[in-house]
Amino acid sequence: MRMVTYLRTILLSLAVFYFLSSCSPSSTDIMDPKGPAANSIASLGWVFFILGGLIFLAVMGYLAYALLVPRSGATGPRGTLIVILAGMAAPGIVLLILFVLNTNVLRDIRTPGEDEAAAVIEVVGHQWWWEVNYQNPQLETANEIHIPVGKPVLLKLTSKDVVHSFWVPELHGKMDLIPGRVNTFWIQADEPGQFTGECAEYCGLQHAKMLFVVVAEPQEEYDAWVEQMQRPAVEPEDDSAQEGREVFLSTTCIQCHTIRGTHATGNLGPDLTHLASRQRIGAGILPLNRANLGGWVANPHGVKPGVQMPPAEIDGEDFQALLDYLLTLE
Ligand code: CUA
Repeated sequence: MRMVTYLRTILLSLAVFYFLSSCSPSSTDIMDPKGPAANSIASLGWVFFILGGLIFLAVMGYLAYALLVPRSGATGPRGTLIVILAGMAAPGIVLLILFVLNTNVLRDIRTPGEDEAAAVIEVVGHQWWWEVNYQNPQLETANEIHIPVGKPVLLKLTSKDVVHSFWVPELHGKMDLIPGRVNTFWIQADEPGQFTGECAEYCGLQHAKMLFVVVAEPQEEYDAWVEQMQRPAVEPEDDSAQEGREVFLSTTCIQCHTIRGTHATGNLGPDLTHLASRQRIGAGILPLNRANLGGWVANPHGVKPGVQMPPAEIDGEDFQALLDYLLTLE
């Protein structure tokens, strides 16, 4: 009866764990790799899991045999031989095999040189968003990294404030962003798609809301995106958007944000030159649409308490015009 209760508790816990683990907005599955580095790491993970499982079963089996079969323990020279074989030789061989496999994976995930990389991107961590400065080709954006499919992309990771960690589970392991230091890292996706990245080092109140997306796309689409990003901001055409630009340029917005082609050149917050081309706002936490953008600009702390951005003190028509303008920035 007690056994049944135990079993039920274990199964229930597993079920709860399973359902809670799917609470995250998009899949970030380390066991479903989409790039060569993540693939090597996942394969090694399976080897460790299966080998460890088999050894665990063998040890438990031997323990059960020793406990249940009376006077089954070997003594004398036979006992010594068992200790040498099962206690020293076998673990030695297993550790040696794992060491060699580990070394192979380290070689597979070696960071490529700048000349081998399809792009070189500096990623700067901020509380709580990601500054993305492409060095080759040259462009600036935030919280969204586009890469060409099937090619390695070199990353130079650093931070403006505290330690963060760059992690796209389906593409590679984690790498820290440390103030005053540049860590080189790389990612590669072997199929087109969108991969969610997150900060993997506790960095303050909104650590959990420090997301980004990696968009892997065919070379032509990537090239088109680069070309679009390199252009200065579009000139607003309709009256309201033009008015919105005046509102933007006459408020404190410009102290933190850059819109290339205007006199807004702040660099404390994300570059907004092509804001409307991005899928999400607030470092990945909300889809970009008029309602979310309005809520965010009017009261960022309502969405992300503690965020550095102050609420905009703009109302009525000016506020609507400002949204009209921001949504033209493709
Ligand atoms: Cu940035 Cu956690």
